[in-house]
Amino acid sequence: MGAAGKGTSAVKSGVKRLLGRTGFDIVRSTNNRGGVDDFIPFEATMRAARSAGLPVGDYIDEVMNGTPGATQSTIDELRALGVFAAGPKTVLEIGPGSGRFLEKTLKECSPGRYEIYETAAPWADYLVDAFGVVAQPTAGCSLAPTPDNSVDLVQAHKVFNTVTFLSASRYFFEMARVTRPGGRIVFDVMTETCLDPATVRTWATEGGPGHDSYPAAMPRGTCVDLFATLGCSLEAGFLAPMGVASTEVLVFAKDA
Ligand SMILES: C[S@@+](CC[C@H](N)C(=O)[O-])C[C@H]1O[C@@H](n2cnc3c(N)ncnc32)[C@H](O)[C@@H]1O
Repeated sequence: MGAAGKGTSAVKSGVKRLLGRTGFDIVRSTNNRGGVDDFIPFEATMRAARSAGLPVGDYIDEVMNGTPGATQSTIDELRALGVFAAGPKTVLEIGPGSGRFLEKTLKECSPGRYEIYETAAPWADYLVDAFGVVAQPTAGCSLAPTPDNSVDLVQAHKVFNTVTFLSASRYFFEMARVTRPGGRIVFDVMTETCLDPATVRTWATEGGPGHDSYPAAMPRGTCVDLFATLGCSLEAGFLAPMGVASTEVLVFAKDA
């Protein structure tokens, strides 16, 4: 291979590595009304995880994202905040993808029902088979099949930084609606806390190739104020790694 060929291949592999670090690759979801409509390919990712001898979630953390232990550290923070202490009987997760948070959530609690809303059909099917969760029809940003005030823990991880402002906002109303009084709502967003000038420079120079809508920012105050009007109070916030920087995980409790 000539020098030019080597250069092209280095750029391609650099882009691929970066795509991996953002949690994305090249496969199109089946029914996505948000912004970024790709998610990592099911077969290839499972095969690569098997070859590496890792559970798929750990493979994504360690190899694809270059953030070993990231999922577990978020789960550890949530445990320390008492999110699992009441033993949630019903859990709902938006955009579980590979199930890396789902699997670890099920190590923390034993809900009788775990609903997922996931647009990538191969991953949703896998999660139903592997964990016995209930995949709800996922149309845009609605949780319509789930009744009001029926879920103890509603969560979404690394979803609202990949969809448009409207998609995230519409899901926020739905999350507050389905959570039962006293229940918890957990999600991460790329807030101003995650966007100091140096980090903006890093994103601008190194982040998000191929996905104009990734990463999407969401003001922290907008979330806090909106959820307050929906009867949900902010309990805590902490940073979690994402791509070249971080998102902020927000934990709300719906007023009893
Ligand atoms: C960056 S991935 C995060 C996956 C997983 N939560 C994790 O942290 O590994 C975003 C996930 O949201 C899903 N998704 C995208 N748009 C969605 C929508 N409108 N409703 C539900 N899921 C969606 C994607 O298919 C993908 O599984």
